[in-house]
Amino acid sequence: MCGIIGYVGKSSPKEILIEGLKSLEYRGYDSAGVALKNDKEVQIIKSVGKISNLEEKMNKESLIDSNLGIAHTRWATHGKPTEENAHPHQIGNITLVHNGIIENADELRKQLMVEGIIFNSDTDTEVAAALINKYYESNPIEAINKAIKEINGSYALGVLFKDSDKLYTTRKDSPLIVGIGEEENFIASDIAAIINYTNKYILLEEGEIAEITKDSITVTKNNKEIKKEILTTNMEADAKDKCGYDHYMLKEIMEEPIVLEKTFKPYLDNLNLLPDLTKYEEIHIVACGSAMYAGLIGSSLLEEYANTKVDVEVASEYRYKNVIYNRKTLVILISQSGETADTIAAMRKAKENNIDTLAIVNVKTSTIARESDQQIFIEAGPEIAVATTKAYILQAGILSLLAYKTAKDKKLVNDDKVVEEAKMLPRLLKEVLDRREDYLKIAKEIYNKEDMFFIGRKIDYAISMEGSLKLKEVSYIHSEAYQAGELKHGTISLIEEGLPVFAIITDEAIKDKTISNIEEVKSRGAKTIVVSNEEYEEQTLQITVPKISPFFQSILIVPTLQLIAYEVAKLRNCDIDKPKNLAKSVTVE
Ligand code: F6R
Repeated sequence: MCGIIGYVGKSSPKEILIEGLKSLEYRGYDSAGVALKNDKEVQIIKSVGKISNLEEKMNKESLIDSNLGIAHTRWATHGKPTEENAHPHQIGNITLVHNGIIENADELRKQLMVEGIIFNSDTDTEVAAALINKYYESNPIEAINKAIKEINGSYALGVLFKDSDKLYTTRKDSPLIVGIGEEENFIASDIAAIINYTNKYILLEEGEIAEITKDSITVTKNNKEIKKEILTTNMEADAKDKCGYDHYMLKEIMEEPIVLEKTFKPYLDNLNLLPDLTKYEEIHIVACGSAMYAGLIGSSLLEEYANTKVDVEVASEYRYKNVIYNRKTLVILISQSGETADTIAAMRKAKENNIDTLAIVNVKTSTIARESDQQIFIEAGPEIAVATTKAYILQAGILSLLAYKTAKDKKLVNDDKVVEEAKMLPRLLKEVLDRREDYLKIAKEIYNKEDMFFIGRKIDYAISMEGSLKLKEVSYIHSEAYQAGELKHGTISLIEEGLPVFAIITDEAIKDKTISNIEEVKSRGAKTIVVSNEEYEEQTLQITVPKISPFFQSILIVPTLQLIAYEVAKLRNCDIDKPKNLAKSVTVE
């Protein structure tokens, strides 16, 4: 969490830093700050709340002339979102911004206080500033080197030294790139923050420190210079535009058919480009949040059609539990960002146990993409809305294809029609998305309620989990997903007059059972909304999508729930792209 940008170059940094922060706002948005530096002074401006508050404040102040600056948008971990706790932090000669968590901050703070340091905030970051300051005599790199040897935890740092006109950076387990421009260079948590200026960058490895001027980037590790490969991203500058949509969430849902086609294309031309899962006796799918719910779609299909044993685990639990591995276990990590701290830890645990890892990931330069044994890249492009939509669809889509391929490899299905149907999926999905009026109609029926349920069985329960999460995170309506048959074991006592219950029915074999459960809640007053691939005459509120192979049915159903969540949040005037308390890339545990 938290986003960092830094600039040194031919221009004045204000616009570059503010625009960069806006691109990084998805990483946290409870407070923000900048530091501008020239050879006489460092000017720090901070504000609580969104970047727009900081921008307003900067517009009112007289800013120093400068060609060097750092900026930060915060998602609070240590200390409340106040101006005192907002970055940049300054101690002695050092001004810095930090993303990550310094795990031994309390211990270091106590030692430094004994040495006479006075801290002004509750943050762990100030400890990093104090440590670098302590070791700074005249050599910035030496000071950073000594300080990071004492820091445990994760960090990406952007550092200014009072008597230097250079920008310094280092990282461990937190994302950060060094962007290469013409007569200007950058640091950023994500290339999206600087894509208007450059598509060239380098990645720092643990222990590497970059010293950056407008014309040079020198990377050293333990005082030895390291030659770095220059990488290029093909991200388009306009990928960050809303393209006329009111919100990124809507834009990203509407992009689903295009990104699905792009992601599927190579595999539909040649399924064998997908990994062979038949050599494994069991699979662990490990991820967080929506990515984990995409994993549930995969496990349901792998078990049902490919007769493959799959356990789906939340990464924050998996990393600490006693996992019993079999020599023929495969661990599949799913992550849009590739930087989710718990998923990274789960991947490293599997690797320490010599277990094969396969990552389904969007960001190609991310830690999970780089450290996993095998990767399948989804082609979502930048996903800016905090709530994932298109990336989830691609994660579920790839797992569905993998399940089909595995079933085929095991000779459990022999139906080439499935590939043909997968080719039709983007077109059918577009038709489903174009029916926005239908989703708005349902949203108007339910947006003023405060509780809801989503029910389903088997894969329809997995779909319910994602539908429920999407609704609660963007609209702040309390919602729960339940296995349809389980309600009567206690939870049904919560059903009351007018309470909305979404019932998902796509699994042919079990649909009659779910319909009985719908009747049970209806007879207790629930307002049911049936989301299915066939129409039910006796149901009043329903969404019906085209029927397709069971491997891909979820890909047509979930987007309807995403759009309903979007419309409900809009009717409730919620901050759809940046829901409260959340951040997109969860790089802390
Ligand atoms: C929900 C959402 C989160 C993420 C989760 C994992 O809309 O976006 O639940 O799915 O934080 O993130 P990644 O996929 O980046 O590992």
